[in-house]
Amino acid sequence: MILVTGATGNVGGEVVRELVRAGQPVRALVRRPADLPAEQAVGDLNEPESLAAALDGVRGVFLLPGYRDMPGLLARMLRAGVERVVLLSSPAAVAADTRNAISEFMIASETAVRASGLAWTFLRPNAFMSNALRWLPQLREGDVVRDAFGDVPLASVDPHDIAAVAVRALLDPGHEERVHELSGPERLLPAQRLAILAEVLHRDLRFHALTDEEARADMTGRVPEEYIHAFFSFYGDGTLDESRIHPTVEKVTGRPPRTFKQWAQAHADDFR
Ligand SMILES: NC(=O)c1ccc[n+]([C@@H]2O[C@H](COP(=O)([O-])OP(=O)(O)OC[C@H]3O[C@@H](n4cnc5c(N)ncnc54)[C@H](OP(=O)(O)O)[C@@H]3O)[C@@H](O)[C@H]2O)c1
Repeated sequence: MILVTGATGNVGGEVVRELVRAGQPVRALVRRPADLPAEQAVGDLNEPESLAAALDGVRGVFLLPGYRDMPGLLARMLRAGVERVVLLSSPAAVAADTRNAISEFMIASETAVRASGLAWTFLRPNAFMSNALRWLPQLREGDVVRDAFGDVPLASVDPHDIAAVAVRALLDPGHEERVHELSGPERLLPAQRLAILAEVLHRDLRFHALTDEEARADMTGRVPEEYIHAFFSFYGDGTLDESRIHPTVEKVTGRPPRTFKQWAQAHADDFR
């Protein structure tokens, strides 16, 4: 049995669907019952003891990072008989400057997993293509998307491909004690991603790059202060390079990673 955390989210949802398609026994961890194509167990990753029922009979876990007591969570898994964990981490764990809140929680999560005694695989995907869903409120209001870091190219990755790699790492031998760096097949600026979305949605959309001052003001109150600092370190100071294209998705899954256009086509209804 595989336990999938974050099962209502972008990546965990894809992991659940991929395991169901593969005919594997899968259980989704949820904080409240949800509409999912798999068995569900209620639990809170911030409360390791709440996972007792969810972990019954589980051999592999797809785990999100950054919860309150990662060592306690992993100790609970080991006691329950879990053998391997695939951790969704980030290249932020190895950024040029890791003195920021995002790098810190990724590093703490990786450190806890390495020390847990469980077999592990780390996934370090670039920024997700699904981050474009953050444009939804603006797209409901009109045709202009205002966003930060307009000059920063990203080789972003489809959560579908992250999940496909996660499933291979959960089911196949040979992924233990390995780090998989993941990207999509192309490097795009935000304006280029929006142009692709416009084409898919048959809309005339325009990108407006916020200045750093405007971006800070836009994030303030919406994003925790320490994360704003981390984003400016990553994309303002350039301490995180998510423009690198990695061959991993194709190597592990046998098929090329999806383009941003394919992601947009698959999610067009989310924007309508
Ligand atoms: N976005 C990026 O570019 C990026 C890049 C690298 C790594 N990451 C990491 O990837 C993670 C997953 O991303 P995503 O887009 O799939 O996330 P998402 O769509 O925001 O989903 C988050 C999931 O976590 C669950 N969750 C939150 N708090 C929980 C708790 N205390 N106990 C149990 N479940 C909890 C949510 O469940 P509910 O339905 O109960 O809320 C939801 O299923 C992010 O949190 C981030 O750490 C993100």
